[in-house]
Amino acid sequence: MLRYRSIFSLTCFMFIFLEVVIGLKLSLKSNGPAVRGSNVTFTAVVGDYAGENLRFAFWDDAQPQHSAEFTLSSNVSTWTVEYPKNLYEAREYTVKVNLLKNFIGFWYLDKTATTVFKLTDSLNGNLVLNQDNLDRPNKFVAVNKTVHHFVRLPENEMEFLKQNASTVITYWFIDCIYIDQTTDMSLNYTYTDVMGDHYIDALVVANNEPLPPITTTTTTTTTTTTTTTTTTTTTTTTTTTTTPKPPNVTEASTPVSTITPAANTTASNEHKISKRAINNKTVKKEKAIKDFICHNSSIVPIGPTYTYGHYQESISIRETISTINITGLNWLQHGDLLNLQVKYSGSPPFDYCAIYKWGQYNVTGNETCVSKTTTLSNTFPLVHYFSDSDQHTVVVVIENEIGKAVSRATINIYKASVHAQLSVIVVPVVFCLVAVILVVFGVAYYQHRSRYTVEVADFDFGQQGHFDYKSFTERLRDSFRNAFDFRRRDDTDPLASDTRYDSMT
Ligand SMILES: *[C@@H]1O[C@H](CO)[C@@H](O)[C@H](O)[C@H]1NC(C)=O
Ligand SMILES: *[C@@H]1O[C@H](CO)[C@@H](O)[C@H](O)[C@H]1NC(C)=O
Ligand SMILES: *[C@@H]1O[C@H](CO)[C@@H](O)[C@H](O)[C@H]1NC(C)=O
Ligand SMILES: *[C@@H]1O[C@H](CO)[C@@H](O)[C@H](O)[C@H]1NC(C)=O
Ligand SMILES: *[C@@H]1O[C@H](CO)[C@@H](O)[C@H](O)[C@H]1NC(C)=O
Ligand SMILES: *[C@@H]1O[C@H](CO)[C@@H](O)[C@H](O)[C@H]1NC(C)=O
Ligand SMILES: *[C@@H]1O[C@H](CO)[C@@H](O)[C@H](O)[C@H]1NC(C)=O
Repeated sequence: MLRYRSIFSLTCFMFIFLEVVIGLKLSLKSNGPAVRGSNVTFTAVVGDYAGENLRFAFWDDAQPQHSAEFTLSSNVSTWTVEYPKNLYEAREYTVKVNLLKNFIGFWYLDKTATTVFKLTDSLNGNLVLNQDNLDRPNKFVAVNKTVHHFVRLPENEMEFLKQNASTVITYWFIDCIYIDQTTDMSLNYTYTDVMGDHYIDALVVANNEPLPPITTTTTTTTTTTTTTTTTTTTTTTTTTTTTPKPPNVTEASTPVSTITPAANTTASNEHKISKRAINNKTVKKEKAIKDFICHNSSIVPIGPTYTYGHYQESISIRETISTINITGLNWLQHGDLLNLQVKYSGSPPFDYCAIYKWGQYNVTGNETCVSKTTTLSNTFPLVHYFSDSDQHTVVVVIENEIGKAVSRATINIYKASVHAQLSVIVVPVVFCLVAVILVVFGVAYYQHRSRYTVEVADFDFGQQGHFDYKSFTERLRDSFRNAFDFRRRDDTDPLASDTRYDSMT
């Protein structure tokens, strides 16, 4: 008997020892930080899961405390806890989960995991700038194009506002100037000053006070347990002290305020008075909000029944690269350097690169630079040597802080030999033609001259006074004789005599 027992305990020990050594990895995460009043979901995940039943025991360190235990045939367990505003203060909380495993009917502790999450006074999430249905990845937005500003809340906070907020108003300020107040947490605004900087403030104010007339119908709905695991659940022992989780509402982008302002529901006579009162109140409130936003006042100008979120962003306005002009010679003789000029519009600085493709290439727009060159100039040269003689496409990719533009130019390179062959044929033909034309014109001219024998050339300067008739051949002969007979020329040249006289005196 004793032997059996010792064998049993030894096996047990071995098993636990192996479990501890090999172990199951356990991780615990929360979807925090979360605003006070909203739900927080914790997810425990077991690695190396072998399909056995597991027990997850969760608890937090809040006062009043929450705890829950789930037995699942799954390696993932989620636990959702509500932290009502009036019970829990804003601070860091710790949540732990124990993973228990079954060994012949006994549950023993295998692993423990811990996570820390934060409950905050104000809403979390962030301010998103969206242009052309794309969220800006940085703080730069395009000029003269509507910027869709909106507050993106975590799902649990969105749910909280939907379930427990009668009104949600967002006040928008740009450079401390009140712009608008909206109920859908979004603002459309177009900036027109290129290279300008702006500071955006959005204050989301949600009223958690129920307004009697309408809100009563929305909360009475079916209840579900807090277990939200998708896999098969064998046994679930829920010992949660939290209130039932609200029904799962499909996610919507805008928290719709469930009620119109009270002023609108009252009788027409009271309507005016109450409206003026509201106006007076809202003016005061707007002033307080402005003080809060612009004058660094730490006093949140709203009461305890409100939940607020303050979002700030500084943005810079830039111009997109809308045109790219590539100019220069794109027909090159083989051996010549490509030398093109690229000009483009947009706000500097620019990052650019050129990609050389063989043959025709159609730009897809998603071409990317491997190595980029940075410039402040709106132009750059493209110099490249092509070793072959084919058609090429040069793709130019230019990026600035808010976008990218791609353009291309087709380059045709012709062989020098093609050019030589051309000249071998064309040049002799042209010269032959010129020669033929010259001969024809020469003959025609000579015939023309001999028919009309008009005196044109006269080389005999000494005989200028004589007008006796001589034929062209006679005159030519005389001229040559005069020109080559120097002695006679000296005697008869009156100009020569004159000079001689001059030199004598
Ligand atoms: C919001 O929650 C508070 C308690 O936290 C409750 O008194 C109030 O009725 C709720 N409001 C709405 C609109 O559900
Ligand atoms: C603001 O812009 C977004 C996106 O362009 C659009 O969906 C929305 O309807 C606009 N809102 C208003 C009030 O014009
Ligand atoms: C409205 O504001 C004026 C001063 O701005 C003040 O005298 C008056 O009492 C206010 N009325 C109400 C109803 O608050
Ligand atoms: C605003 O106040 C905080 C502390 O209250 C301080 O750290 C910060 O520098 C102030 N900012 C400006 C612009 O005055
Ligand atoms: C591109 O060329 C067009 C027409 O030739 C001209 O109007 C435009 O200003 C040029 N753009 C740039 C950035 O040089
Ligand atoms: C480029 O596009 C034109 C017309 O859009 C098409 O005819 C041509 O085949 C395309 N070339 C390549 C290389 O895809
Ligand atoms: C670019 O887009 C085309 C289709 O438009 C796609 O086939 C290609 O894979 C994309 N390339 C890159 C680098 O994203």
